[in-house]
Amino acid sequence: MRFAVFISGYGSNLQAIIDAVKQNQIKAELALVVSSKKEAYGLKRAEQAGIKTLFVDPVEFANRQSYDRQVLIHLKEEKIDFIVLAGYMRILTPFFVKKYPKRIINIHPSLLPSFRGVTAIKDALTYGVKITGATVHFVDEKMDHGPIILQESIKIALEDTKETLEQKIHKLEHRILPKSIELFVDGRLKVRGRKVEILEKPQKTSTHNVELAKDIG
Ligand code: GRF
Repeated sequence: MRFAVFISGYGSNLQAIIDAVKQNQIKAELALVVSSKKEAYGLKRAEQAGIKTLFVDPVEFANRQSYDRQVLIHLKEEKIDFIVLAGYMRILTPFFVKKYPKRIINIHPSLLPSFRGVTAIKDALTYGVKITGATVHFVDEKMDHGPIILQESIKIALEDTKETLEQKIHKLEHRILPKSIELFVDGRLKVRGRKVEILEKPQKTSTHNVELAKDIG
């Protein structure tokens, strides 16, 4: 299986994935890193690891769907079977999501369904919750919503700041995101409605042909 990681920034999760592929924890090829930001440090990480990169500039597209369409053309060319969103700061259009049903994985820095959106860590602190964490889930057409693969929690200390909490959450993320990808690649995830069963025995994992021809020519 070949996969792509989508980023927009620092790419510490991308690095954890690169390392897990190198160590053969994830038995799939990380074939492409896509960024929506030209200056994303994650692009450098990918280049250093010898992974093909792609920057698609949002300002060049009239709307989100035409942007996604362009990205999909590249994914088709690269024969990408599944996608991991690791700090990708754009919401995928339903058009895109339908092309990769239950084949897009996202990491979110809270215990969903609490604190959706881009300010999750700050929101958890401001709210005063005592426990937060990270969630890995399949992407569906609603934001931070699809079936949950793995979640892990941590306690928030009274003296935690956004920065210290972010560090703690990143530590969790760097463990549960590669683990989730490993389970997916090994055919150990079975989606039953909103629930994701983790199988003891793997089922056969299939490759994925994106059917784009009729939509994007
Ligand atoms: C992570 O906290 C992730 O949960 C969120 O964006 C952040 C990305 O961090 N979606 P990094 O770029 O992987 O360091």
